Amino acid sequence: MGTIRNIVILTGAGVSAESGIDTFRDSGGLWEQHRVEDVATPEAFARDPDLVLRFYDMRRAAIQTKQPNAAHLALAKLQAQWPGRVTLVTQNVDDLHDRAAAALGVAAPDLIHMHGEHLNAWCTACDTRSRWAGPLITRSACPSCGSAALRPDIVWFGEIPYRMDEIFEALREADLFVSIGTSGVVYPAAGFVRNARDLGAETLELNLEPSQGTAWFDEARHGPATEVVPAWVEEMLGA
Ligand code: OAD
Ligand code: ZN
Repeated sequence: MGTIRNIVILTGAGVSAESGIDTFRDSGGLWEQHRVEDVATPEAFARDPDLVLRFYDMRRAAIQTKQPNAAHLALAKLQAQWPGRVTLVTQNVDDLHDRAAAALGVAAPDLIHMHGEHLNAWCTACDTRSRWAGPLITRSACPSCGSAALRPDIVWFGEIPYRMDEIFEALREADLFVSIGTSGVVYPAAGFVRNARDLGAETLELNLEPSQGTAWFDEARHGPATEVVPAWVEEMLGA
């Protein structure tokens, strides 16, 4: 490996699995229990808003009973101690990376929630996002404009992920790209490994099993996130 200064890390549901949050595509995962097109598209929300709001209200309540695990904490430690830039891009809509950073005193973590956040409500009337821990099925008023037009701040299928320009800016500067706990099937995130390679970065996969894109990585290490991630972080910080 060449000299590594800037790191971009992409995480997916696998990093939160050992905190007790279901992944999407593993057996028993969320997309086995719900059809994507019933709960995770703008069309579904237009057709049956109560069904969609109830689904996300349950998920929003559930994540608040979970805790960051050793993988989240190790990544926060890397962000706190690595001398270069560590940009954490997550597909996860839970707040476990945020809480791990707070636990380690990382005040303003370089963290991008590209698929949105359960703990935000987005007002489609005034385009304001508000921190939101409770239910949305109650059709509460937007704290900014008072209208009852709040929806989950989740990027649904057919919508464009957030902050793509910042993600590509970080990929251009990256010396190392690491993908953790993601199946590598949902684009554009699944394409980041090839973007990173094309832009000259080394690439590493850390996942329970080979992902769909595993062949694109220079190196892959397979095992549970709470084991492989802390081991990799210690290796990086010790080098
Ligand atoms: P998936 O459920 O597709 O993939 C989870 C990956 O994590 C799989 O490759 C598992 O092998 C791996 N995994 C499971 N347990 C693990 C563990 N303990 N340690 C390490 N790896 C583990 O989830 P994502 O790839 O995150 O989008 O899914 C991407 C997007 O699809 C999500 O952000 C979501 C979904 O539809 C939206 O909601 C917009
Ligand atoms: Zn509003």
